[in-house]
Amino acid sequence: MIKILDQSIFCLSTRNTTYMFQKLPSGHLEHLYYGALLPGVTGEEARAFSEKRGCETGNMIVYSQDDKTLLLEDTCLEVSGEGKGDIREPFLEVIRSDGSRTTDFVFEKAEVLQEKESYDDLPGSYGMEPGEHLCVILRDAAGDLALELHYYVYENEDVVCRSARLLNQSDSVVCVERLMSAQLDLRRSGYVMSTFTGAWAREMDRVDTVVSAGKHQVSSCGGASSNRANPFVMFSSPDAGEDHGRCIGMNLIYSGNHCELAEVNAYGKTRILTGIEPRGFSWTLEPQESFQAPEAVLTFSGKGWTGISLNMHRFIREHIVRGKWKDKERPVLLNSWEAAYFQFDEGRLMKLAKAAADAGIELFVLDDGWFGKRNDDTSSLGDWTENRKKLPGGLKGLSGKIKSLGMDFGIWVEPEMVNVDSDLYRNHPEWALAIPGRAHSEGRNQRILDLTNPDVVDYLTETMTSVFSSGDISYVKWDMNRIFSDAFSQYLPAERQGEVFHRYICGLYRLMGRLVESFPDILFEGCASGGCRSDLGILCYFPQIWASDNTDPLCRAAIQEGYSYGYPQSVVSAHVSASPNHQTLRATPLETRFGVAAFGLLGYELNLCDLRKEELDEVRNQIRWYKKWRDVLQFGDFYRGMETAWLNSGDTSSRYPGATDAFPAEYSWTCVSADKSRAVGFTLQPLVRPNVQYHRFVARGLDPDKRYSFSNIPRKVDIRRFGDLINTQSPVHIRQDSLGHRVAAKFVKMDGEKEKYTSLSGAALMEAGVSLTGSYTGTGMNDQTRCYQDFDSRIYIIKEVEGAEDESSGDVEKENV
Ligand code: GLA
Repeated sequence: MIKILDQSIFCLSTRNTTYMFQKLPSGHLEHLYYGALLPGVTGEEARAFSEKRGCETGNMIVYSQDDKTLLLEDTCLEVSGEGKGDIREPFLEVIRSDGSRTTDFVFEKAEVLQEKESYDDLPGSYGMEPGEHLCVILRDAAGDLALELHYYVYENEDVVCRSARLLNQSDSVVCVERLMSAQLDLRRSGYVMSTFTGAWAREMDRVDTVVSAGKHQVSSCGGASSNRANPFVMFSSPDAGEDHGRCIGMNLIYSGNHCELAEVNAYGKTRILTGIEPRGFSWTLEPQESFQAPEAVLTFSGKGWTGISLNMHRFIREHIVRGKWKDKERPVLLNSWEAAYFQFDEGRLMKLAKAAADAGIELFVLDDGWFGKRNDDTSSLGDWTENRKKLPGGLKGLSGKIKSLGMDFGIWVEPEMVNVDSDLYRNHPEWALAIPGRAHSEGRNQRILDLTNPDVVDYLTETMTSVFSSGDISYVKWDMNRIFSDAFSQYLPAERQGEVFHRYICGLYRLMGRLVESFPDILFEGCASGGCRSDLGILCYFPQIWASDNTDPLCRAAIQEGYSYGYPQSVVSAHVSASPNHQTLRATPLETRFGVAAFGLLGYELNLCDLRKEELDEVRNQIRWYKKWRDVLQFGDFYRGMETAWLNSGDTSSRYPGATDAFPAEYSWTCVSADKSRAVGFTLQPLVRPNVQYHRFVARGLDPDKRYSFSNIPRKVDIRRFGDLINTQSPVHIRQDSLGHRVAAKFVKMDGEKEKYTSLSGAALMEAGVSLTGSYTGTGMNDQTRCYQDFDSRIYIIKEVEGAEDESSGDVEKENV
């Protein structure tokens, strides 16, 4: 809800939060408050928050001789310019034709609007209720520039979105050096800034930095939102945790270079900025033109990181992801990449497809290598015609055969790229970003097409339209495998080269927008070397993203937990792959590879034809079980474990005792259906600690007043896990890894532990938890011992039951995986 009090105080309220700023007598906008809901807030209350100053302070710039108490350097502002005394990082920087850089934006008017703005070239949130749009127009004191600030209120999700547009109303050119999307000036310092940084194969690593003085910034300069620093960030009070403490979450609806920074000024105030990264950016604004900054998403929660995550998840599901697939359960897919890489032909693919269909896979995806002369990554990007040697019937023939096996068919493309060794490059070298006459630095042997050039965007629209129509194609994985170097467009004039990065992203959005509109039934999945473009801009077009090329379940647990702070499971795809894993060479149980992937959008990416029969049976059961639970796993509320490790060990010395630098002692997750009647729990132990018998599963997010059954999935233990300890039981000596060992393992299967409770209250499950069957500690093993060693995991099933005595529910046998 938007209220304007006393014609100068602007209050934006959601269900649980209030955002407030006011117009000062000078016309500047003072930020007053962002935090827990202030019900029925009044003008007097706002005046009470407003900072008071009696007289000017030493060594500061006084804004005007008429009011010596306005010192912009120490005022919380909604937006800040340059040159009038505020020496912090500005919201906006321009250079006028006379070379001057000072800007001073003051209030001109404000309006509450029914509709949301739509941007020409940029995606944005949608589904705002009528009347939840506040537009404030500021004008520079010189009178020639206007700055529109837009606020969109999403009441149910506790989100406020902000964006800004700069209009050049002068009759000369203005050079925009930066226009951020949101500025938040807070009254104190010492916020914990959580950033999600990383690299290829290790995306979304949460790093916390206390910002007490100076600046802390993350940014990307490589042309993509990047795996180096995701645009999602959090700012928490120092005492915040999973379920407590004040926390602000921010994200940007943008896929290009971005920057998030926090700066503490000399008076202990924190300025937070998010928006397009100023480095490498400059934009020539002709008279009467405007520049639109991307939209930023802000949320506040007094319930810690979980509060932020749930708000962001709901917001993304409701107001970012759109189209047919928004709320639709996603199919279980098999991707050919790690199964075959470039070594395939139709015969090999069909063998794989038959095994996939037999296992219950619903969608068969042909990854890289199907076009041009692409037998490795040195050629053919740009030449999007089928390789008839590999696929004699083309995509049409192959997709028909896959369909006749009862599966949908999907393909991989990387439309934005070109190899020098391609017909496209030979015909149009000027379509690649490069500086003529200078050596070009390559990434994965490929170059980037110049999407600032509308001809290139038109060409790609046509080419991809024809590819997507060339067979029965239900799914497209859209990849982008290099970051920018030598970012120079032969289409743009010299003075506009600072526009390349942003114009590229706008061209990309135009291209994606057209294709998504023409192919509304296709399920598109974004990918950029895994998670190099996992952002809200992409998610406005594509409902899901390949979160990382790393499919090692241990690494994936960390990566997916990182994503979970800001992104819902319904946008994060995750695959079961081979063991040893291709990225880490780590061997892990199939059960764990499945468990982790099941907490994303489940797929398989391994050569099913080479699996043993027992493994194939296990895969078949996994898929059967997943289909029954995927509504909860894909669209339920996701909760990270709070203090499982602490409860387990009784050691309170750190958040995760027993944790290594890379991994916590245990991952513990719960996914709960919207009506809280069904939930799936998960635990994963990275490394076993000797002689620790007691583990507990503590659920989260249940209804404390409901009663639930709790069970695990029946499991068998392979006796080979005990190595030569088999000889403590066997009447004859068995040499480890011998044929005899394998034969014994085939016929002798140990039952795993059973956890079964028929009626526990939600409160008990969340507060006390379930003490699990004692773990193996080196002194014996029976069916009441949990073999829970390195990389082991468990799934727990939690179902609402009618009454305390309902014995029929929680029947573990029915859950057979
Ligand atoms: C990238 C993707 C992978 C795969 C390969 C194909 O690395 O992230 O999933 O599609 O390209 O070349």
